[in-house]
Amino acid sequence: MVTAPAQTAPVPVVVRVLLDPEWAQTGLVREVRAGLEAVPRRLTPQWLYDERGSELFDRITRLPEYYPTRREREILERHAGDIAVASRATALVELGSGSSEKTRLLLDAFTARGALRWFVPVDVSESTLRRAAADVAAAYPGLAVEAVVADFTAHLDQLPHHGRRLVAFLGGTIGNFAPAARAEFLRAVAHGLEPGEGLLLGTDLVKSADRLIAAYDDSEGITEEFIRNALVVIDRELGATFDPAAFTYVPFWDAREQRMDLRLRSTRRQHVRVPGADLEFDLADGEELHVEISTKFMVDGVRAELDAAGFDVAEVFTDEAGDFALTLAARRA
Ligand code: AVJ
Repeated sequence: MVTAPAQTAPVPVVVRVLLDPEWAQTGLVREVRAGLEAVPRRLTPQWLYDERGSELFDRITRLPEYYPTRREREILERHAGDIAVASRATALVELGSGSSEKTRLLLDAFTARGALRWFVPVDVSESTLRRAAADVAAAYPGLAVEAVVADFTAHLDQLPHHGRRLVAFLGGTIGNFAPAARAEFLRAVAHGLEPGEGLLLGTDLVKSADRLIAAYDDSEGITEEFIRNALVVIDRELGATFDPAAFTYVPFWDAREQRMDLRLRSTRRQHVRVPGADLEFDLADGEELHVEISTKFMVDGVRAELDAAGFDVAEVFTDEAGDFALTLAARRA
């Protein structure tokens, strides 16, 4: 008797956890305390991406004013094949693997060229990672998936070795780093790679202040809610007593630093307790919390920073309008 073919077995996904399970919490406590005691007080954008924050960010990427996601996708649609050929990678390592849609453009191009064997998504959120890894494993049967739960600012020297790697850091997230931290991060990526291995870096480019401000102060108020969610997360995770409604959203273009600066300004004097971080302070009426920066680059600046970090730039791809850049670089010998 002929039996029906067996259901396709679930594709195994290897998950490596480099992150101490307690890390997320101790990291949050440490950073919140340091940030809120600093002058000016600041929060770290990493904590914006809880369930609600990730959903809001997803909506941001679909806003008419928010061009970066669409521009980066346009570049990938046109050049993913070139990137696959030029990098000759056998493993694609994606740092902060939020957007599986963009990842797929790369995976399609890479698998069409036949050399890619491994996909290594790296993220701090184990649940996000497991979901993304399982989806990719199911969609690309020839691909081995090793998901790594890690802080990509701390574990770059522990990335798995699978032949020739290309590290992708997309979306313009590098713009969240201040200059010194950015230089340190790029050096750490270079240090974690072997000579000849690659980096694919997404950077948003400088453009008119009007367009930038519109992209970070959308008419539907989604970005405002996304930034305000930083307070909601800290209230929930650390028992803080921020009143999110008692802040206005203050987004502005800092022309000197060439970055969008996204802040929350207290509309009244408020006494804030953060029991989980063992902290208590007064926020003055009008006092600002610095939540996120989003640096905008010039192509030559990106080249210079990559060069300084130990990379040779192979190619810079931009969209038709020149809004966004994807730079392919190789770790120098
Ligand atoms: C995910 C860091 C690239 O800076 O444009 C979007 C985050 N913040 N709107 C960006 C963000 C407000 C975004 N990155």
